[in-house]
Amino acid sequence: MTPEELNRKRPSSKTSRANLLRGAEQARAAEAPLVWTSRGWTNATFPLVPLADLAVQHGFGFFETLRAYGGRVFRHEEHFRRMERSAKAFRVTLPLDAGTFERVATEMLEISRMPDARVRLTVTAGPPPIAAVQVLPLDAPAEEAYTGGVTAWLAPFRRNTRGALSGHKTLNYLENYWAREEAKQRGHFEALMLNERDELSEGTRANLFFAKQGKVLTPALSTGILAGVTRSALLEVCAERGARAEEGVFTAGDLLAADEAFLASTIVEVLPIVGVDGKRIGDGKPGPLARTLRHEFRRKVESELARG
Ligand SMILES: Cc1ncc(COP(=O)(O)O)c(C=O)c1O
Repeated sequence: MTPEELNRKRPSSKTSRANLLRGAEQARAAEAPLVWTSRGWTNATFPLVPLADLAVQHGFGFFETLRAYGGRVFRHEEHFRRMERSAKAFRVTLPLDAGTFERVATEMLEISRMPDARVRLTVTAGPPPIAAVQVLPLDAPAEEAYTGGVTAWLAPFRRNTRGALSGHKTLNYLENYWAREEAKQRGHFEALMLNERDELSEGTRANLFFAKQGKVLTPALSTGILAGVTRSALLEVCAERGARAEEGVFTAGDLLAADEAFLASTIVEVLPIVGVDGKRIGDGKPGPLARTLRHEFRRKVESELARG
């Protein structure tokens, strides 16, 4: 069944539960992962975005990656607000609101029978803008990555704090994508980037933390990083537990001299980094702070989702 046939049968993308279920049933008949869009249901095998869309022409658009635990999305509101801020900065009107997004994501998680999943919200700039919500396999690192740690490559590419895209999660992510591909080619899990002032910034899809003498350190927002949802949850965890934590300006030397380091993101949560550019961080093993913070982060997720 083509998207046209699908949407002729059910032309509205209204988000009542009945509508969602009916649309999803029809999309399922197409035997490909279903996708909700602000223009109707489609599935992943059919082109949805016109070639003239600025997302195709210039990578103009935004995305968010969220994580569902037991069918519920962690901090969906915070993710949505981050996209809203970027859309406002680039004068794009989002074709869905936070409530619609939450409703669609929750129903799609149920429909897809993937309670633990990655939820992707994509919005193209259009015109007119198109929103798409997908529920995808989680694709989180294997448990051995947490017990053994991963290594990172210090990419020669720079974050540009003065660039218009700095701090925004736009569809123009080729630099991040490419840095990660290069890191993988060299046998590393992630690429880390400095900014144009030689300050440590972040990974290509994760924020960076490290620890020195029991103090948790992470690059400040002024270094051109994305304001990660996980990063802010971890800083909350530190404050709640009375752990010393500081956002600041650091160099690659500070990282290499750290006792331990870790990545923080929606998908990896807290993932220890045990080496950078072939040099060991600390004793080359995952550190105790990463282990504790991962555990505490999970507790926070569970208690927030239990509260609803
Ligand atoms: C460049 C960059 N930094 C940091 C993050 C982590 O953000 P979050 O914790 O909101 O997933 C991401 C997430 O994809 C990212 O792309």
